[in-house]
Amino acid sequence: MADIASLDISFTLNGAPQTRSVAPFELLIDFLRDDLGLKGTKRSCDVQVCGACTVLVDGLPVSSCTSLAADIDGRSVVTIEGLAQRGELSPVQQAFVDHAAMQCGFCTPGMVLATTALLEHHPHPTEQEIRHYLRGNICRCTGYIKILEAVKSLV
Ligand code: FES
Ligand code: FES
Repeated sequence: MADIASLDISFTLNGAPQTRSVAPFELLIDFLRDDLGLKGTKRSCDVQVCGACTVLVDGLPVSSCTSLAADIDGRSVVTIEGLAQRGELSPVQQAFVDHAAMQCGFCTPGMVLATTALLEHHPHPTEQEIRHYLRGNICRCTGYIKILEAVKSLV
């Protein structure tokens, strides 16, 4: 059997076309953080529980700690670094700032990306729908009231 040491993949990262080689077993979080230097994607639980490592793949939230880099071949990936445009925070980022919806900020990239996906697909969610959608994103240092207020301000 052939030994496949690396795979060539083509994808879009934060709007820019990319072609790279990845090991077949390389995790997406390691590819983003270590190979591409995009440290905004956070590692915490490593087992798809906390949501800190969330990125968007074809517009949907994905846990990069349990996804393979090879699987983004032909797809579009957005990390927290890709949300601000021309120095302007995205509306979701700005709402989190305006509502002080963070303390340490470690969970914030995942929260912001999950919220971005939510509003893209459901522009007018109820509070219950917001809570349900963000249930996979854990904040360990504060309550969720400010986060909820930030998201509700965008509905
Ligand atoms: S680090 Fe991926 S879900 Fe927690
Ligand atoms: S703001 Fe610290 S973990 Fe959420």
